[in-house]
Amino acid sequence: MEKIKVAVVGTGFIGPAHIEALRRNPNIEVATLCEVNEELAKEKAALLGIEKAMVFEDMLKDEEIKVVHICTPNFLHYSQSKAVLEAGKHVVCEKPLATKIEEAEELVALAEKTGLVNAVHFNLRYYPMVRQMKTMRESGELGDIYSIMGSYLQDWLFLQTDYNWRLEPDKSGDSRAIADIGSHLLDLTEYVTGLKITEVMADFSTVHKTRLKPLKAIETYSGKSLAPSDYEEVPINTEDHATVMLRFDNGNKGSVTVSQVNAGRKNRLNIEIAGSKANFEWCSEKPNEMWIGKRETANQHLMKDPSLFNAEAGKLIGFPGGHNEGFPDTSKQMFKEVYAAVVEGKQPEKPSYPTFADGHRELLICERIIESHKKQAWVKI
Ligand SMILES: NC(=O)c1ccc[n+]([C@@H]2O[C@H](COP(=O)([O-])OP(=O)(O)OC[C@H]3O[C@@H](n4cnc5c(N)ncnc54)[C@H](O)[C@@H]3O)[C@@H](O)[C@H]2O)c1
Repeated sequence: MEKIKVAVVGTGFIGPAHIEALRRNPNIEVATLCEVNEELAKEKAALLGIEKAMVFEDMLKDEEIKVVHICTPNFLHYSQSKAVLEAGKHVVCEKPLATKIEEAEELVALAEKTGLVNAVHFNLRYYPMVRQMKTMRESGELGDIYSIMGSYLQDWLFLQTDYNWRLEPDKSGDSRAIADIGSHLLDLTEYVTGLKITEVMADFSTVHKTRLKPLKAIETYSGKSLAPSDYEEVPINTEDHATVMLRFDNGNKGSVTVSQVNAGRKNRLNIEIAGSKANFEWCSEKPNEMWIGKRETANQHLMKDPSLFNAEAGKLIGFPGGHNEGFPDTSKQMFKEVYAAVVEGKQPEKPSYPTFADGHRELLICERIIESHKKQAWVKI
C-alpha cells in the first residue's frame, strides 16, 4: 500500500496528538516535522521518530507531502493554511481557523477555489457518544428542542503565575476562553442539535487583571515550574470566564459558561439538551456515558457499546463495550474521515468532517460574542 505522506507543523501539546492519531490510521505516513527552526525540528523529529525535519517554508517545496497539519499558535493558522493551499496540498488546521473573520473568509474562498481537502480539528465531535446524541436527535428521540445548557471548564490558568501565549491577543486573538474552548462547545452545540445560534448576549470577566509572565519559554500543559525572579507582571485583556445567553433558530433559548480558572475542573465540557421527548446530558470527562432523562418512565444511562449504538455512531467505535475510548481516539476517527477525502483527491460536496466553513462559522459567532460583551447588549449572528 502506498502511504499518504504528511507533514505536521508545531510540536507543543496538540502536534504530537495529531502525529499519534495519524499513525493509528494504516494508509498514512508522518514523513516530515516542522518547527520554528531546523534545530528544534531535528530534536523533536528524533524524539518522535520522524525522518525529515525542517522549517515550514522548506516543507512547502516538497512535492511528496500531500497533506499538512497546522498545530501552531492561532496567529499562524491563516498564513500557514493559505500557503499550504497555494502549494497545492490538503490541509488540516487546528482551531481557531484564523484570528480575524476576514482572514477566515479568504481561506474558505481559497479552499473552495482549489477544491483541496480542508478540515478544522473540531475533534470533540468525534467522541462516539457525541455522534450517538446527534443521530438520536435526527431520528426524533429527543423531540423538539426546548433548551440547551452548556459549560466548558478548565483550571490550567487558575493561578496568577499560569502563563501561555494564549494570554497574548497578538498571538491568540481578541478572545481567549471563548475562542479557545467556547469554540469547541458552540461547534458541538450546533452539530448535535442541528440548530443555528441566531443571537448572543455575553458577559466576560478577567479574574486575573495582571499575570506573572515567565521570562523563559514554557510549553502548554508542560507543568514545569520557575523561580520568582523568572517572571514579569503583565496586564491581561482577555477573558478568564464568560457567560453567554443564546437564542436559536427554533425560537428557543440556551446558555453557555466557559472558564479557565475553575479549580479542579481539568477539561470538562458538559452539555444538557432538553427536548419534548427526553433530555440528553453528556460530559467530556466521562465520554463513554450518556444520561437520558425521561418524565414518564425511568431515566436511562447509556454506555458506549457497538451493539447499543445506531450504525452511524457505531462507525466511530474502535473497541468493544467497557473498553474506554477517549481524547486520542477522537482525532484518529476524525482523520479516518478526512483521509477518505484525501484518497479521492478533493473536498467532498457534503463533508462528514468539520471544514474551513465550520471554522469560519465559529469565528463569526466568537466575534459577535465579543461585540455583545463590549456593548452589553444582544447581538445578531
Ligand atoms: N482541538 C483541540 O482539542 C486542541 C487542543 C489543544 C490545542 N489546540 C490548538 O492547537 C494549537 C496549538 O496549541 P498547543 O497547545 O499545541 O500550543 P503549544 O504552544 O504547546 O505548541 C505550539 C507549537 O508550535 C510551534 N511553532 C510556533 N511557531 C512556529 C512556526 N512558525 N513554525 C513551526 N512551528 C511553530 C511551537 O514551537 C510549539 O511547538 C492552538 O491553535 C490551539 O488552539 C487544539
